[in-house]
Amino acid sequence: MKFLITGGAGFIGGNYCHYVVKQYPNDEFVCLDALTYAGNLETLAPIMSAPNFRFVHGNICDQKLVFDLFEKEHFDYVINFAAESHVDRSIENPRIFLETNVLGTQVLMDACRKYGIRRYHQVSTDEVYGDLPLDRPDMLFTENTPLHASSPYSASKASADLLVMAYHRTFGLPCTISRCSNNYGPYQFPEKLIPLVIKLAIADEKVPVYGKGENVRDWLHVFDHCTAIDLIVRNGRDGQVYNIGGHNERSNIEVVRSILRQLNKPETLISHVTDRAGHDLRYAMDPAKLMEELNWKPKYTFDTGLGPTIQWNLDNQAWLNHVISGEYRRFMASNYGAK
Ligand code: NAD
Ligand code: DAU
Repeated sequence: MKFLITGGAGFIGGNYCHYVVKQYPNDEFVCLDALTYAGNLETLAPIMSAPNFRFVHGNICDQKLVFDLFEKEHFDYVINFAAESHVDRSIENPRIFLETNVLGTQVLMDACRKYGIRRYHQVSTDEVYGDLPLDRPDMLFTENTPLHASSPYSASKASADLLVMAYHRTFGLPCTISRCSNNYGPYQFPEKLIPLVIKLAIADEKVPVYGKGENVRDWLHVFDHCTAIDLIVRNGRDGQVYNIGGHNERSNIEVVRSILRQLNKPETLISHVTDRAGHDLRYAMDPAKLMEELNWKPKYTFDTGLGPTIQWNLDNQAWLNHVISGEYRRFMASNYGAK
């Protein structure tokens, strides 16, 4: 079988490529990535010379490039990780989020319709459901929770999900959608909470916590996200949405304190800064459908996954320094300068 993996030079797509290239030596994997500020070829270095892996540099919005690639490669499966993925950047500049996350998805699905595939899989997010109250721990997002996006990022992802379902119903496109909670693990770009806090704390710099730090996220190790997507792509049912999560809710301040504790750094590094506009209060996934239907089980809890993630960041300072471009420094100054 031949797979197209878009966005494979990013955090989750990169971990997915590492996993499947080793796990399925008889399948072929082509990674298409535009190498934006968030994409890095060094993430793919460990598999770059694998006989069943190939990298193509290109943008999913470029219809000619995408159609030519499909015509040449005859893909069986398409897995779309490519996206603008950072909420704070979507608040700064929404447009690119609509281009990549919505129009890019449309180009890929049009190519699937034209050239034929076994399945298109859309990698989506729990953020499409909006947020839950902090004082209702009994409430979880299920696949039937209405879409209620809060940020330009989550609105773009929800729009893409609607488009995927429309292509399924109107054109009979064979497809699945997965919606996962917050990920952490190796190769995560240091603009997201966990790698950012690790990076700053190692350097004894102030750690920015939005507002009081009481917002809650449901953390899943990226390896567990990858095994879930693999199961859904191979064994899921067409036209179905699957929630992915491991019941690991933590407030942001708890996460930050855990990292500081494990690094032996003082809590005086914590700096409470102006809150994110429209900040979602709480995410919490119900993954029962995935567990019961496809027998998925996570390997990590937050407590067993955080330590190795901190260690990975300590051991991979070279990777970290290489991904921090001028663009990264511009965004950090713009996002935190005024807070
Ligand atoms: P990321 O920002 O680390 O990586 C995105 C990758 O997509 C980068 O390699 C980038 O170069 C590439 N890309 C961006 N625009 C492109 C374009 N127009 N054409 C081709 N490639 C392009 O993102 P991530 O955290 O790995 O997220 C991957 C996917 O998973 C996204 O769709 C995101 O919405 C979803 N998701 C992320 C999380 C999370 O916690 N990070 C959780 C749930 C779902
Ligand atoms: O829930 C899944 C989503 O998780 C994905 O769809 C997104 O692609 C991914 O970026 C992530 O979104 P969040 O906004 O939840 O992740 P982020 O790491 O940016 O922030 C996590 C929490 O930490 C959030 O409540 C905001 C807070 N935060 C974040 C940063 C960067 C801070 O308090 N300080 C910070 O400096």
